[in-house]
Amino acid sequence: MSLAKEIQKRRTFGIISHPDAGKTTLTEKLLLFGGAIQTAGAVKSNKIKKGATSDFMEIERQRGISVATSVMGFKYRGRKINILDTPGHKDFAEDTYRTLTAVDSAIVVIDVAKGVEEQTEKLVSVCKMRKTPIIVFVNKLDREGKDAMELLDEIEGKLELNVVPLSWPIGMGQRFQGVYNIYEQKLVLFRPHGKQNESEETIEFDNLDDPDLEKYVGEEAAAELREEVEMVTTVYPDFDQDAYMRGEINPVFFGSAINNFGVKEMLDCFVDIAPNPLPRPTEERMVKPTEDQFAGFVFKIHANMDPKHRDRIAFMRVCSGKFERNTNYLHVRQERKMKFANPTSFMASKKSVIDEAFPGDVVGLYDSGNFKIGDTLTGGEVLHFKGIPSFSPEQFRYVDNADPLKQKQMVKGLAQLMDEGVAQLFTRQSNNRRIIGTVGALQFDVIQYRLKHEYGASVTFEPLNLHKACWVTAEDDKKLQEFLKRRRADLAKDLAGNWVYLAQSAYALQMVRDAHPGVEFHFTSEF
Ligand code: G4P
Repeated sequence: MSLAKEIQKRRTFGIISHPDAGKTTLTEKLLLFGGAIQTAGAVKSNKIKKGATSDFMEIERQRGISVATSVMGFKYRGRKINILDTPGHKDFAEDTYRTLTAVDSAIVVIDVAKGVEEQTEKLVSVCKMRKTPIIVFVNKLDREGKDAMELLDEIEGKLELNVVPLSWPIGMGQRFQGVYNIYEQKLVLFRPHGKQNESEETIEFDNLDDPDLEKYVGEEAAAELREEVEMVTTVYPDFDQDAYMRGEINPVFFGSAINNFGVKEMLDCFVDIAPNPLPRPTEERMVKPTEDQFAGFVFKIHANMDPKHRDRIAFMRVCSGKFERNTNYLHVRQERKMKFANPTSFMASKKSVIDEAFPGDVVGLYDSGNFKIGDTLTGGEVLHFKGIPSFSPEQFRYVDNADPLKQKQMVKGLAQLMDEGVAQLFTRQSNNRRIIGTVGALQFDVIQYRLKHEYGASVTFEPLNLHKACWVTAEDDKKLQEFLKRRRADLAKDLAGNWVYLAQSAYALQMVRDAHPGVEFHFTSEF
């Protein structure tokens, strides 16, 4: 099959939600449709359960599961669909942001009762930054929740999305009867507690004025549905494929993932409208998927849980050309050729060695410490993919070695954990002490635990009250030098040797910015 055809077939996306909205349940139902799994419950959630902040076994268990569920590929209606898993826990938000650099579109799950929640807002704003096309799935219609119209207003208001409902609920909770599929003009009736795939009955229904509607849903619901659909189709714009692709409008579906209701409607629409693998920017130029030369980037690194085997899996998204097993590729940062004897693909929770992969696919590469997040591999050209930043951390602790005999192990362990993107390491210039900066507090526990179990090193942490760490640059070197001289006490360097300003408070940061107009403060590492 030609490269162009392979690209046409592929849909690579992420499902994002606030924890508990139903992401795992929806993923599982999608996999059931694709035949990738046979029974419900086969995909275990990789979310860290509430209140498990210090439960290390839970962290380890989750890490094990999340290798298997990091990428789930399946085939559906002649398409190859790749779902990239995104952790819902807010302390792993950075992992999620990075994974979103590797998708071409996203599905946002919203709980009908809870509406738009905090994590939903953050994740959607990341997608919007990149203009990622987004479909909204409003879940748990089998429960009482917010009025559909109000919820759409909330989605528009809080998430700044422009919604276009492609289905509309008929009642909810106890009175939930199903949805009207506006996109395909079908009535889809809800049959609660049915068996897998038997929970809905679909009736072609292209005219809601047809008196048969009463027969199916009763008089009251029929009148309500007619009125609402008329309002919806007047108030909201028609679906426009190009506008969706540009990230300007957002189709909305309603359903109940646990009952496998409304999921197929969304999936069928998704495979029709969602983008194929899209071009991706590098510092040098745009890379189109149809180019002959292979190029890809690493967006996630997963360490082996077995301390005897220090190898890791680097997850690489193929962006252009064909990736082949046992072929020499350029590791751009290390300026050397590498080839891979056992690249793996992920179909549901099965891993298998592959001979080739195409744009949109995610390949697992066994790695003995050569990769860092953001690394580029190519057929020979020097390219650096953009958009895989580290974020300005917000929680800080000094890290000290607690076992003088294990200094080397500690240094190595810390470096490798930083490559995986677990946290960021800075060295304070005034006292040469190491500082770990993270987005969430859970990472400190993870670091301490993993250093001990994987590297035999012990560390202690000392609290450090800082507001933010931000990278500093200046066009005029004199201004930078002046800044560095005057703010020496609050300076650090990151692992790449970039200057970082450690702000004690939001106020201090503002004062310093005002005092040094020629100096730029960056809140992501990409500048
Ligand atoms: P997450 O990955 O977004 O965190 O959510 P997950 O799918 O784990 O779902 C969170 C909870 O919501 C689960 O219940 C799940 O069964 C339930 N749920 C998902 N979809 C629906 C739906 O359409 N209707 C209703 N009523 N509930 C739904 P739980 O009790 O937390 O876990 P479990 O014991 O059922 O696994």
